[in-house]
Amino acid sequence: MKIFALLSAAVFGQTTDPPTSAPPATITLGTTVTAPEAFACLTCNANNVADCIANGTMVECQDSQTSCAVTMRKRRGKTYFVQAGCKALDACLVNKSQNNRGPWKLQECKPYNNKKIENSVCRQCCDGAPECVQNTFFNADGTDGIQKRATWINDYVSQDD
Ligand SMILES: *[C@@H]1O[C@H](CO)[C@@H](O)[C@H](O)[C@H]1NC(C)=O
Ligand SMILES: *[C@@H]1O[C@H](CO)[C@@H](O)[C@H](O)[C@H]1NC(C)=O
Repeated sequence: MKIFALLSAAVFGQTTDPPTSAPPATITLGTTVTAPEAFACLTCNANNVADCIANGTMVECQDSQTSCAVTMRKRRGKTYFVQAGCKALDACLVNKSQNNRGPWKLQECKPYNNKKIENSVCRQCCDGAPECVQNTFFNADGTDGIQKRATWINDYVSQDD
């Protein structure tokens, strides 16, 4: 959505003369945004975040896959599995709902680097930009996933459906 906002800002911003006629009114921004062309996701099956970033590739998603999914598993506070890629939004959100479903003991997402936490699985979905997974759920230093639990639970999807 931001990309299109920037694009239209750039296009209309370049007009230095006052427009003599109204711009074409046939473009419906909403339609363009819900079906982005060449939507792509970082795709990896890795042992940790650095591995995912180094060895992952950008893969163009199928039409039915309108979100980028990321799954991160930790054992005793240490990341050992990072998976990312295109996914149907519904399926991604169903998996993500396991992050914090039910009583605390049964909730799956405990992303802390804490040896007392035997197992953690955190999942997220986003569709804002190709870099969404890296920028939002990986730490900047590339060594581990974000430990802030709210970041795994918050909504990063901009689609209506
Ligand atoms: C990338 O993959 C290769 C081959 O599996 C592996 O040796 C290397 O450690 C990986 N890179 C990182 C940063 O983990
Ligand atoms: C999503 O959930 C399905 C059904 O529970 C499961 O088979 C699949 O492995 C999960 N995928 C991820 C990436 O967690």
